Amino acid sequence: MEGSGPVVRRKSRPVSARKRSRDRARSPPARKRASPGAGQELQPAPASPEYNNDSEEDMFGDYDSFSGNDSLLAQVDNMEQECIQSIDMTSYTKNKEDQAVSEPMFEDLQLQNAKSMELVFSAAGNGTGFKTEEGSNFWRTTNEQENRALDSGDCISEELPSSQLLYFQEMSKTSVDSRKPSDTKERGKDMNFCLDKMLNQSCPHNAEHNKINNVLSPSTTSSLSKRQSLKDHLKNTMTGNAKAQTPQFSRTKQLKEAVLSEEICVAKKTIETSSVDIGPFYGLPSKVKDLLVRFRGIEKLYEWQHTCLTLESLQQRKNLIYSLPTSGGKTLVAEILILQELLCRQKDVLMVLPYVAIVQEKVWALSSFGIELGFLIEEYAGSKGRFPPIKRRMKKSLYIATIEKGHSLVNSLIETGRVSDLGLVVVDELHMLGEGSRGATLEMILAKILYTSKTTQIIGMSATLNNVGDLQQFLQAEYYTNNFRPVELKEYVKIRDGIYEVDDKAENGLTFSRLLNFKYSSNLQKMDPDHLIALVAEVIPNYSCLVFCPTKKNCENVAEMICKYLNKEYRNHRENEKHDLIKELKNIGKGHLCPVLKRTIPFGIAYHHSGLTSDERKHIEEAYSAGVLCLLTCTSTLAAGVNLPARRVILRAPYIATEFLKKNQYKQMIGRAGRAGIDSAGESILIVQEKDKNLVRDLINSPLENCYSSLFVEYTKGLQGLLLSLVGLKIARNPEEIYHFMCSTLFGVQQQFLSKEKSLSDITREALECLIEKGLLKGKMISKKEQKSQSNLEITQLGQATYKGSIDLAYCDALYRDLKKGLQGLVLESCLHLLYLTTPYDMTYHCNPDWMIYFRQFSHLSSVEQKVAATVGVSESFITKKASGQAIKKDVDNSVVNRLYLSFVLYDLLKETNIWNVSEKFNMSRGYVQNLLNSAASFSSCVLHFCEEMEEFWVYKALLTELTKRLTYCVKAELIPLMEVAGVLESRAKQLYDSGYKTLAHLANANPETLVKMIEHLSRRQARQIVSSAKMLLSEKAEALQEEVEELLKVPKDPSEDIILITLP
Ligand SMILES: Nc1ncnc2c1ncn2[C@@H]1O[C@H](COP(=O)(O)OP(=O)(O)OP(=O)(O)O)[C@@H](O)[C@H]1O
Ligand SMILES: [Mg+2]
Repeated sequence: MEGSGPVVRRKSRPVSARKRSRDRARSPPARKRASPGAGQELQPAPASPEYNNDSEEDMFGDYDSFSGNDSLLAQVDNMEQECIQSIDMTSYTKNKEDQAVSEPMFEDLQLQNAKSMELVFSAAGNGTGFKTEEGSNFWRTTNEQENRALDSGDCISEELPSSQLLYFQEMSKTSVDSRKPSDTKERGKDMNFCLDKMLNQSCPHNAEHNKINNVLSPSTTSSLSKRQSLKDHLKNTMTGNAKAQTPQFSRTKQLKEAVLSEEICVAKKTIETSSVDIGPFYGLPSKVKDLLVRFRGIEKLYEWQHTCLTLESLQQRKNLIYSLPTSGGKTLVAEILILQELLCRQKDVLMVLPYVAIVQEKVWALSSFGIELGFLIEEYAGSKGRFPPIKRRMKKSLYIATIEKGHSLVNSLIETGRVSDLGLVVVDELHMLGEGSRGATLEMILAKILYTSKTTQIIGMSATLNNVGDLQQFLQAEYYTNNFRPVELKEYVKIRDGIYEVDDKAENGLTFSRLLNFKYSSNLQKMDPDHLIALVAEVIPNYSCLVFCPTKKNCENVAEMICKYLNKEYRNHRENEKHDLIKELKNIGKGHLCPVLKRTIPFGIAYHHSGLTSDERKHIEEAYSAGVLCLLTCTSTLAAGVNLPARRVILRAPYIATEFLKKNQYKQMIGRAGRAGIDSAGESILIVQEKDKNLVRDLINSPLENCYSSLFVEYTKGLQGLLLSLVGLKIARNPEEIYHFMCSTLFGVQQQFLSKEKSLSDITREALECLIEKGLLKGKMISKKEQKSQSNLEITQLGQATYKGSIDLAYCDALYRDLKKGLQGLVLESCLHLLYLTTPYDMTYHCNPDWMIYFRQFSHLSSVEQKVAATVGVSESFITKKASGQAIKKDVDNSVVNRLYLSFVLYDLLKETNIWNVSEKFNMSRGYVQNLLNSAASFSSCVLHFCEEMEEFWVYKALLTELTKRLTYCVKAELIPLMEVAGVLESRAKQLYDSGYKTLAHLANANPETLVKMIEHLSRRQARQIVSSAKMLLSEKAEALQEEVEELLKVPKDPSEDIILITLP
């Protein structure tokens, strides 16, 4: 199954124009001035000045959006659905032929026995950690004297893991080789130092305490000791909580910690002094490999993972891009590099992931590593994240962030001169650079890091890269690629009733495989012309199946259609658990249950798209992972980076909404089949109609699409926003420096291709002129001919507010005007007026108000609240006329009308706190309503940061702080502390709260086994993850408080000393 051998490509030279034009088979995206960001999902960010598509769950833009329902396909689906419903149910159940179809046909799907994994992490360490030859040499060259010296050196040495022994043996080897006397003493000193350091780390106040006691005079000691004991008490309590379930004075624990700390010291030294990896596990303590076995079941690294980790370029800390097929195991390599950085180099790390849900998943997955290995994990997604982050002295931090939060974090580090604290930045799904405003933001993060911190290493990975040369040039990176995929993925295409295998060697890329075995009645043939039921019945219920559909509506229809024609026996499979799932979903919906899910779940089938709330999605994913559900019909919400079981992935049509599928999208979708560790085989079937045959052939035979910079396409959010922040952050001060920066962006690399008519300097100049014209920058742009363009640019107050609030430049004027107008007559009887001001502008584009609902909601407002409508420019007569279908002669600003409508939704939501009721009232999907709420919370925090920079808006500060909080936690206040824990959503928080787990400390101290018993439908794995995430969060909070205490109690330098120094000669 392993593909061709590993390929290491050196950083490419700048590609010639001719070569580049050959590379780019497809035309570049067209320039777009403003992008409203249709249907993108957002999550709140009160603490962050960032409001962009933070939680966007859909990989391929906006087809899975609110507006997606209006697409042609959706309408066709509606008709299809109506048609299905009109058929008499009894006719098909009686039909014997149909029953034959319902029998699963497994003969084509033979399970491969999973190969038992060879355990290679033996003490002799062959293969992965270090080279076998060298390993055995260590043992041979170690002489007895050294062993004795080690034995007598410290009692802990009896428990020394192989890592330390190897280290000492390596040291001895060096000393023997150089014929110098053995440096046992030095080693002993090293060890004692490490032990001391570790003990000081575990009791950080000891060292400080000793120091203070030594320095203080007796008279001050007593008062200070009071403070000191208070401080100690506080620390001990918090540390105790953070180390829940851990006996404080366990000798074994202390010894283990000492050993771990020692290993870290050894590994750190090793990595600093040698370019050859001689550590037990890639320079990391052997505990790491134990944890990988324990938490992940990973016992052996793949060959490519080992090759990649031992690349010379990585040893030299060069930037690296690596690319492997989906499910190739890319993440593990990045995680090992992250641990090296945190533990050995003692630097912070930023990991950038595409969606909120994936960030939360990663925080869950790595929390237990953080607790065991002594580093912090800080979540930067949705409403979470501090800007700038707290500067930690004791432990290093791994920031796991969405693209947008990652950008704010990097900005705040640059602003506070701390960017070089970041030793490593890891970007997953690097191809996202080419994806709209998120791509532009990702490019900004990377370009800023590259420009401002020469010591920060950058690692990027993806399964779908084509024009790697451009990316290498941008990131000044080496490249590694390999075709390895641990579970073979067989690709098929279905045309009529023939199944064809995708085959590179065949003339047109396809070879005939088999005829689909099915018996359909004429009725069923009409209902299911694509034979979806036959295809899924071959795998479910014993194996899992994902069916990607072009639209949300189509997902629901397909799920219902399949259920209608499936044998009733499918209901028996895990019946009780399905019943429980329905109950849980009903709880989440506070009594409401989606009628489609109610019908499909008994068959083990559900739909999955952005119309669901995040809580519903999570429950459905968990039930699917556990095999309770065996089939999900989904949109691209499940297309990228997701590890779910899928023996078979079916693409119902080669379309996303009405757009033909791109190769990258196709590859990501089919890549969900056959995930390592979950499935032992995987296959994909793309259903093709006759008319699309040729297009599909092209799709299969074409290379992956190129990745192009989005900076220029996303003009206001992209290029202009970047230039403004460069001046704001003082990264560049004049046009020349800005031009210099621009040359180092991906856009700079690709500019000649992306914008043939204008040079990079012209584009930069124009953008700067535009910023000056808009009043965001001050300064003079000197004409092209004049060589000196050194005159400094300055950011204006409006510019500063726009950049600090991360406001899309397309809306900064409108926001300023709206806020200014608000000053003159803000209606504060309720929060409606404020809500209007914090309703995101870009959500108004795809809003189609229902005029009757508009009218009804307006009528329910108090007369003072109705004034808000008039103040913002929507008159009562306009709403009345619209509702009664009369023509409107006067010009009205639709964006204002729609914005007011959306603020009615938010207003209702804040009063109700029940998404289901509100979505029913406004006839919107609950997922959309939740998305609106999250976006408004994010935007509200952005507007707050905007106002903080404008003196004239001081009055908004208090108001918006409160509103942002209300929007962010639109739940009962008591659940908020529990919902701070990664992955704990409202329904789970409520369960925990009701069972007595009311605070973060309760959760951190909980016993996972007890949790499983007390909380309904909580798996052991989930319980463990909740507890470790809570521990991590508590420890992170405790650390922050400790830092604060330390800072507060730090004895300042005596000013008189300075005076003496000055006065003394
Ligand atoms: N050495 C290994 N042995 C066993 N399982 C592994 C190993 N490395 C990774 N895995 C498992 O393989 C699965 C897929 O890995 P991962 O998510 O890193 O894939 P990926 O390359 O990032 O794919 P995608 O591009 O689809 O995101 C995970 O469940 C992971 O735990
Ligand atoms: Mg991945």
